[in-house]
Amino acid sequence: MKNKFIVIEGLEGSGKTTICNYIMNMLKIWGIKSIITREPGGTPLNEKLRKIIKKERKKEIISNKTELLMFYALRAQSLEYIIKPSLKNGLWVISDRYSISSQAYQGYNDSNKKIIKNLNYYVLEGISPDITLYLDIDPKIGIYRAKKRGKLDRIEKKSLSFFKKTRSRYLEIVNKNKKKIKKINTEKPLYLVKKEVKIILLRWLLKNLK
Ligand code: TYD
Repeated sequence: MKNKFIVIEGLEGSGKTTICNYIMNMLKIWGIKSIITREPGGTPLNEKLRKIIKKERKKEIISNKTELLMFYALRAQSLEYIIKPSLKNGLWVISDRYSISSQAYQGYNDSNKKIIKNLNYYVLEGISPDITLYLDIDPKIGIYRAKKRGKLDRIEKKSLSFFKKTRSRYLEIVNKNKKKIKKINTEKPLYLVKKEVKIILLRWLLKNLK
């Protein structure tokens, strides 16, 4: 079977990192070698920029345009140095966030939606995930979980209404792409979320074996 590109999406506190690790271990048991990368992040340079993007700054606020372009700059870097070479070398790639994050978090008006479409064309060069798992969560619960992890970063500090709108944009995207994006409710015990992830991936893999 050809190696695959799997993306995990969702709001803060939805459990993306845990699920990425779970999938990697599951693939390992099935004899499949994979790597995990994350956005923003992945390469050494991207990890440095990740800190800059997430840090709250009072003096020089990151403008909306700068923020959107930064996410795409990091995505370009991650594609060039992690995603493309790994897929070329036969590894499966599990990415904690990808372009749908930009659509959900930065796609808040028609102008941004249009720019994101163009940036996707320019930056992604047609590299899209074989399957995306969207971990759905009520933002109130997600932020509560994120708070328990530690101090909230610049983006996590945004208002509840921002996250509610982000969630509705996620759901809109999911509903338009049901074949490629699978929605998983994460307001239940972790072992049940994992069980659902396993079933979805097994079904999808069996379909792709044919
Ligand atoms: P991260 O700590 O990875 O998210 P999580 O809390 O889910 O573990 O932080 C990434 C932040 O960047 C998150 O708040 C979402 C935001 N983001 C965007 O706004 N647009 C994007 O394109 C990406 C990749 C992330």
